[in-house]
Amino acid sequence: MSDMSDDATKISIFLNGNKVTVQKDLTILEASSKNMVDIPTICWSEHLEPANACRLCVVEVEGSKTLVPSCSRRVESGMNILTESPRVRASRRMILEFLATTNDLSQAPEIVTLFDDYGVDIDRYERPTRISEEVRIQDELYIRDYSKCVLCYKCVDACGEQAQNTFAIAFSGRGFDTQVSTEFDVGLPESNCVYCGNCVAVCPTNALQFKTEFDLRDASNWRPEDQTVTTTVCSYCGVGCNLELHTQGDQIVKVTSPTEHDVTNGNLCIKGRFGWEYVNLVMKDDR
Ligand code: SF4
Ligand code: SF4
Ligand code: FES
Repeated sequence: MSDMSDDATKISIFLNGNKVTVQKDLTILEASSKNMVDIPTICWSEHLEPANACRLCVVEVEGSKTLVPSCSRRVESGMNILTESPRVRASRRMILEFLATTNDLSQAPEIVTLFDDYGVDIDRYERPTRISEEVRIQDELYIRDYSKCVLCYKCVDACGEQAQNTFAIAFSGRGFDTQVSTEFDVGLPESNCVYCGNCVAVCPTNALQFKTEFDLRDASNWRPEDQTVTTTVCSYCGVGCNLELHTQGDQIVKVTSPTEHDVTNGNLCIKGRFGWEYVNLVMKDDR
């Protein structure tokens, strides 16, 4: 089909029946977002290559027999895309029902808020396949609760060549036994993990979470509505990574980094991510 735009860098597509002009190197997801059309995602992340794992982002493209993952498929001139057709909605509902059947999504509000919209029936399937895992608490920095893991690949990609290049974790097992694992399933302290926490930062379900958050939740004292976020600069070295200090009362409860920063892309090292406990101790001493 011929290009319908004068600008060589742009093409025209039909998005839910509306003709729009977009950059020709965009994915369908990016083109939709730029035109205020929301498409839900789980495994997509701005700074990671699409893993095509969750399939929640699928859309209907005229001429394509199967539904198309919008996070990885690029737009083409004249493409006719439906982002909310009955077939797309049925597919998303089925995926969400499978996840609700298999995983503990209690700490994944962005996924759970989709349930009403897609008419999800969380009791549609019986639950013998629900993943039941002991929470792995192996240090004071972060915990792993794989009953919440939706196998999105984000942590593995963030630990591997797409960010940290440490390769401490990978997928092991097949089918229902598939899970994220260290080499030979050794504990994190014995693994290659350098505790950058970049895996924690990208996890969409809280399967990986700060030990501080885990302890506060355990004590029924995790209060996001009372928390403030203060952006500052890490003082450990001259790189100057931006830190977002999440505080509850006079305690730091976790540290993130802005994803829109073009140097760090949300990543940190162990010092910036976890090296703040001394501040809490000083605050306690001052009380
Ligand atoms: S903390 Fe860093 S090194 Fe350790 S598993 Fe996560 S991403 Fe890999
Ligand atoms: S632990 Fe989190 S980031 Fe890693 S695969 Fe599971 S859900 Fe995704
Ligand atoms: S967001 Fe596209 S496949 Fe997961």
